[in-house]
Amino acid sequence: MGQGFLASEEEEDEQDVGKRRSGQRRRSRATDETTDVSFMHPSERDVAKLLDFYGVKYLYEPRSFPLRWDGDRVTEMFTPDLYLPEQDQYLELTTMKQSLVTQKNRKLRRLRQLYPDVNVLLLYRRDIMRLLAKHGYGPLAGADVRSIDQVLFSADQIRQRVRELGSRITRDYTGREIILIGVLRGVVTFMADLMREIDLPLTIDFMEVSQYASSRGDGVTVTRDAPMALEGKPVILVEDIVDTGLTLQFLLQHLSTKGPASVAVCTLLDKQARRVTDVRLDYVGFEVPDEFVVGYGLDYEGMYRNRSDIAVLKPVEPKIEAQR
Ligand code: IMP
Ligand code: MG
Repeated sequence: MGQGFLASEEEEDEQDVGKRRSGQRRRSRATDETTDVSFMHPSERDVAKLLDFYGVKYLYEPRSFPLRWDGDRVTEMFTPDLYLPEQDQYLELTTMKQSLVTQKNRKLRRLRQLYPDVNVLLLYRRDIMRLLAKHGYGPLAGADVRSIDQVLFSADQIRQRVRELGSRITRDYTGREIILIGVLRGVVTFMADLMREIDLPLTIDFMEVSQYASSRGDGVTVTRDAPMALEGKPVILVEDIVDTGLTLQFLLQHLSTKGPASVAVCTLLDKQARRVTDVRLDYVGFEVPDEFVVGYGLDYEGMYRNRSDIAVLKPVEPKIEAQR
C-alpha cells in the first residue's frame, strides 16, 4: 500500500457522483472473464486475490446505490467495492483516514435506511491487513507480532467446555457411529481432547488445504483429503477457529461431494465479528473477540501451538508508508 492509495481514496469521494467505473469493468470469477484488475486499489486487489484463493465468487463494483436526489437528478451515490453473489454480501474496503471513514459511515447509514435488504460490511484497514497477514501477504505479513496480551481462556476453562461439547455430541448422535474430520494443523489439540469426551463409536480423519498459484490465477487446493469413505455416514467437521468462514465454506462444499449422510460443524472458537459468509455452526466452544488468538493448537507463524491456554496476541503494526 503506497502513498497513492490515500490520495486515490480521497479522489474517489470527490468523484462519487457521476461514478467513473462502469459495468464493463466488472470482474467475475464465476464467468471466467478476462480481467484487468489494474483499476483496483492495492488493497482491493489483495482482497480480491484472497477471495480467488478461496474460490469465492465476487463482482467488482457491480452496483451503485443512489443516496440523494435533486428532483430527478442523483446528487449522491454509493458504490460498494465488492459483491459476493453467493453470500448476497457487499464489502466496502476502507483504509482511509478517520475523517473520511466518518463520511463513509454516514453514507452507509443512509444506504441501510434506504435499502434495508442490502447487506454491506465495512472492512477497516486493520481488518484487511490482519486478513492478509493471516494468509502470508500484505503489510502485516512480516510484522513482528510477538507479545501475549492477555489470557482469554485458561486450560481449566477449556477442559470444562470441551467436556460439555463432547456430551452434547454424544447425546445428539446416540446409537450412531460418527466420523470426526479435523482441519490441520490448528485443530490437533482440540481434536485429541474432544474425541476422548465423546462416548460413541467413532473414527477420525484429517484434511489440509493450501494455496496454489498457476497461470490461470490463484486458487485453493486440498493438499490432504480425508481418504475415508464418507458416503452415507454422519460427519462432524472439527475446526479450531472460524473467522471469516471462507475456509469452512470451501471445506463444506468439498465434503458435500462425497455424499455423507450429514455434515455438522464443531468449532472450538467462533470469531463472529469477522464473518463474511453465512455458515452454520452446530457446536461452538467459545466466542472470541476480534483479536488474533494463539495457544491450544492455534499458531502465529507456526509458534505458540503448545500453550495450554488461549491468549490474545498483541499486534504491533509496522509503519506503513501511506500513514506518514
Ligand atoms: P477463515 O477462513 O477466515 O474462517 O479462517 C479460518 C482459519 O484461519 C482458521 O482455521 C485458523 O487456521 C486461521 N485463523 C483465523 N483466526 C485466527 C486467530 O485468531 N489465530 C490463529 N489462527 C487464526
Ligand atoms: Mg484452520
